[in-house]
Amino acid sequence: MKIGIIGFGHLGKALVKGLLSDAFVRRENICVTAKSQKTKELAQSEYGICVCRTNQELIDISDIIFICVPPDVFFAEFCDCTPVPESKHIISLMAGVTISKLKNCLGQSSIIRAMPNLGIERNDGIICYTETDNQYVVALLDHLGYSFCVPEADIEKVTAFASCGIGFAAYILNCFFEKGKELGFSPDASRQMADNIFRNALHAANYSELVDAVATKGGATEAGIQRFDRHDVKEIIGDAIDAAHRRMT
Ligand SMILES: NC(=O)c1ccc[n+]([C@@H]2O[C@H](COP(=O)([O-])OP(=O)(O)OC[C@H]3O[C@@H](n4cnc5c(N)ncnc54)[C@H](OP(=O)(O)O)[C@@H]3O)[C@@H](O)[C@H]2O)c1
Repeated sequence: MKIGIIGFGHLGKALVKGLLSDAFVRRENICVTAKSQKTKELAQSEYGICVCRTNQELIDISDIIFICVPPDVFFAEFCDCTPVPESKHIISLMAGVTISKLKNCLGQSSIIRAMPNLGIERNDGIICYTETDNQYVVALLDHLGYSFCVPEADIEKVTAFASCGIGFAAYILNCFFEKGKELGFSPDASRQMADNIFRNALHAANYSELVDAVATKGGATEAGIQRFDRHDVKEIIGDAIDAAHRRMT
C-alpha cells in the first residue's frame, strides 16, 4: 500500500514519524508533497521519503491519501483537481472541514475524517476517526496511539479537547517553568521540576483524590487551591476548550 501525505508541516511530520516507527510502514511506501523547496528537501534528506512534484502525482501513485494542509490551501488548490478515483481512500486531518464539503470538492465518496494530536509522532497520540470498513486504515490509525471511532459531529469536540489540548497543557506547564525561574531556579532545574510535577500527578488513580491528599486542611497547598477557585481556574480552562470548539463550528 502506498501512503501519500499532502502537506509536510507540524502534523505531516508527526504522522510520518508515527507511521515509520517499528517499521510499521516502510519508508519507500510513503510519499509527501509540500509547498516550498526547503520542506521538500527536508523530507528527502532527513526522513528519506519520496517527494512528489505535484499533488496530482501524489494522488495518482497513492492508495491511501492523508490531507494535512490548512483548509484554505485545500479549498484553493484541490477543488479543481481531477476527481479522485473511488478506489483511493482519503483521510482528511483538517480541522473544521466536513465530509460533505470534502466530497463536493474531491468528487468521490471514500473519504473519512480523522483528528489526531501531535502525540502521534511518538505513537502516543490521540486520534479519533469517522466510520470506515477499511481495516488497514484502522490499523494505521491504531498504530499512532489511542484511537477510536466517533460520529462526525464529535470530531470538533475531540479537536478542541485533545488536539488543542496539547497546546493548553504546554501553556500551563510553561507557567510552572517561568515561575520556577522567577523563584531563582536555573532554567534546567525549573524544567526538571515542572516535568516531574506533572509526571507524578499523572500517576494518580483519581486526580481529585490527589488534590485532597496534597491539600492538607489549613496548609500551603490548600491556600493555593483556594486561589485557583477564587479565580475560577476550572471555568477558565473549560472556557478555553469551548472557545476552541466554537472556532471550528
Ligand atoms: N498542528 C496540529 O497539532 C494539528 C492537529 C490536528 C489537525 N491539524 C490540521 O492539520 C492541517 C495542517 O496543520 P499543520 O499544523 O501541520 O500546518 P503547517 O505546519 O502550517 O503545515 C502545512 C503544510 O502544508 C504545506 N502546503 C502548503 N501549501 C501546499 C500545497 N499547495 N500543496 C502541498 N502542500 C502544501 C506546507 O508546505 P511548506 O512546508 O513548504 O510551507 C506545510 O508543509 C490543518 O488543516 C490543521 O487543521 C493540525
